[in-house]
Amino acid sequence: MTDFTGLRALVTGGASGIGRATAELLAARGAQVAVLDLDPSGVEKPLRGYAADVTDDAAVRDAVAAAVADLGGRGLDVLVNNAGIGAQGTVEDNDDDRWHTVLDVNVLGVVRTSRAALPHLRSSTHAAIVNTCSIAATAGLPQRALYSASKGAVLSLTLAMAADHVREGVRVNCVNPGTVDTPWVGRLLDAAPDPAAERAALEARQPTGRLVSAEEVAGAIAYLASPLSGATTGTALAVDGGMQGLRLRPVAQ
Ligand SMILES: NC(=O)c1ccc[n+]([C@@H]2O[C@H](COP(=O)([O-])OP(=O)(O)OC[C@H]3O[C@@H](n4cnc5c(N)ncnc54)[C@H](O)[C@@H]3O)[C@@H](O)[C@H]2O)c1
Repeated sequence: MTDFTGLRALVTGGASGIGRATAELLAARGAQVAVLDLDPSGVEKPLRGYAADVTDDAAVRDAVAAAVADLGGRGLDVLVNNAGIGAQGTVEDNDDDRWHTVLDVNVLGVVRTSRAALPHLRSSTHAAIVNTCSIAATAGLPQRALYSASKGAVLSLTLAMAADHVREGVRVNCVNPGTVDTPWVGRLLDAAPDPAAERAALEARQPTGRLVSAEEVAGAIAYLASPLSGATTGTALAVDGGMQGLRLRPVAQ
């Protein structure tokens, strides 16, 4: 018996990277887990995959309803709002369409799945929402204007939702990862002129000198989602190798 035994969880963007590691960890710790993703074809048992685009409200409602029905039809305990996409460039580099697209996925995606899941979460005695935010919400990173704006909104939304739903017994928190070694970052590195140099620069930016693993972020999400964390709501947990909070002196040459 572990902390998630008997609980039902839904993870968006759970077919890859952080979401996949989270879905697998929650299942390993006893939860029944549904994954909502654009492409859930690679989702393996005991996880259950549901296809939906978080920019499509009707598809999200249908997928959440189907997942809740398949998980027993009596509510939902954990929602992990993790689906997200990246954007590079300064404020001059992305047109309005790109801004609308990224905000639609990263911010309104959280809104849509939360809206669909809240009626089910209210019937849980251990309800928790965890949003995957980013260090980009709390530190100024170069070439990330649009992405940072989207994650800043996720941070504020997390706090507002925590206030709105605390008296209904629904906790809301977020994790703020640094650079995580996922397929997403793999794609970024592949697109860089010198992938090895780019990876070295990203590793050097984190005081631990390495990228965060998807499993480490999953561990933080599980910590916040667990009934053992019943007094924790409205917080942002950094999972960034010390990048936000530490100021190291340069290594002596
Ligand atoms: N990798 C990092 O360095 C890092 C750092 C901080 C925060 N994050 C955040 O973590 C989350 C996951 O990132 P990752 O690195 O695991 O990425 P990833 O690309 O490996 O996985 C993202 C998953 O989300 C799904 N997805 C994307 N758009 C979707 C949509 N519209 N509807 C439904 N599903 C959709 C994808 O199909 C994919 O399975 C994102 O919110 C991202 O902003 C990542």
